[in-house]
Amino acid sequence: MTVIDVEYEQPACSTRHAWARVPVEPSQSERMHLKEKITRLLKEKNAVMVSHFYVHPDLQDLAEATGGLVSDSLEMARFGRDHVAQTLVVSGVRFMGETAKILSPEKRVLMPDLDATCSLDLGCPITEFSAFCDAHPDRTVVVYANTSAAVKARADWVVTSSCALDIVRALKDAGQKILWAPDKHLGSYIQRETGADMVFWQGACIVHDEFKAFELQALKAEHPDAKVLVHPESPADVVALADAVGSTSGILKAAQSMDAKLFIVATDSGMLHKLRTLNPGKTFIEAPTAGNSATCKSCAQCPWMAMNGLADLARVLETGVNAIDVDAAIIPRARLPIDRMLAFTAALKNGQPVGGLIPHLGAA
Ligand code: 13P
Ligand code: SF4
Repeated sequence: MTVIDVEYEQPACSTRHAWARVPVEPSQSERMHLKEKITRLLKEKNAVMVSHFYVHPDLQDLAEATGGLVSDSLEMARFGRDHVAQTLVVSGVRFMGETAKILSPEKRVLMPDLDATCSLDLGCPITEFSAFCDAHPDRTVVVYANTSAAVKARADWVVTSSCALDIVRALKDAGQKILWAPDKHLGSYIQRETGADMVFWQGACIVHDEFKAFELQALKAEHPDAKVLVHPESPADVVALADAVGSTSGILKAAQSMDAKLFIVATDSGMLHKLRTLNPGKTFIEAPTAGNSATCKSCAQCPWMAMNGLADLARVLETGVNAIDVDAAIIPRARLPIDRMLAFTAALKNGQPVGGLIPHLGAA
């Protein structure tokens, strides 16, 4: 086990420190043994795995091999809500487990490590965030899924990066002004794309905030035929160099549909596993994370996503420890903006009109 010190920004408060403990990589024979054990326990316990694209490849592949899912945060939420299994094992970060619990309070939601957090969640404490909302009572509150249950319970809408553009565009069309939190880069990207009237919380993802436009430009010059795929949590000057901007699932779709052989990828390096498996004829390289004199905090690997390991996953399934608990008193209010997002995206997918799904401000 390695414990890493992680610096993150808490807007209005300064730079703070958190930590992540990363499990030791098991040997080949341990891996095989753990995978067999987990597969057996999933059946015995009526459980299903839900993994994010950034976790260790073993946890992505095992989820799929056992009838679970590996996906972006939006589809993780939908899958967990709709699956019949009474136990969900969520490999990702805490807000993903909390969202699953909010959507299915009757289910048991286990996580390999409950301390796997996110700099966006850490950087947006409920007390300060509530004061920010109180200062802008005329605005629709839109929060990214990477937030605590309490922050979600203060929101009108929850969005993920795969649906934020569509939802904000619909809110703008309905004449609403927006308060956005917590990711300043994703927020400003959405504002540039939609022209919506938005005020921002100043949070950032420690992984995507590290990508550097200057270095990316130099890499592009070395590989003029490469296409650049960027997650919108990245800074604006990095997004400006992209051939495609999207959520993790958006990046995957872009790589599959674009007619290029080489891609530079500006998101967590965990994404490379799925990109490479689904596109064997294409090459994917990581976007650079540090400028000439800069230091690298995360080096394109989320320290909290890296906390998910096979051994802990087997342990929590066997013992039932590490169950996510969300205060029952806030679940109904936190669920409301998530339900709105899921209804909106389902309608959009089915080609149904979405205008009627936008409530008037103050209806929450
Ligand atoms: P996606 O919703 O695109 O999977 O992103 C989640 C996340 O935490 C990105 O850093
Ligand atoms: Fe949070 Fe960034 Fe990690 Fe995603 S990659 S979980 S946004 S710290």
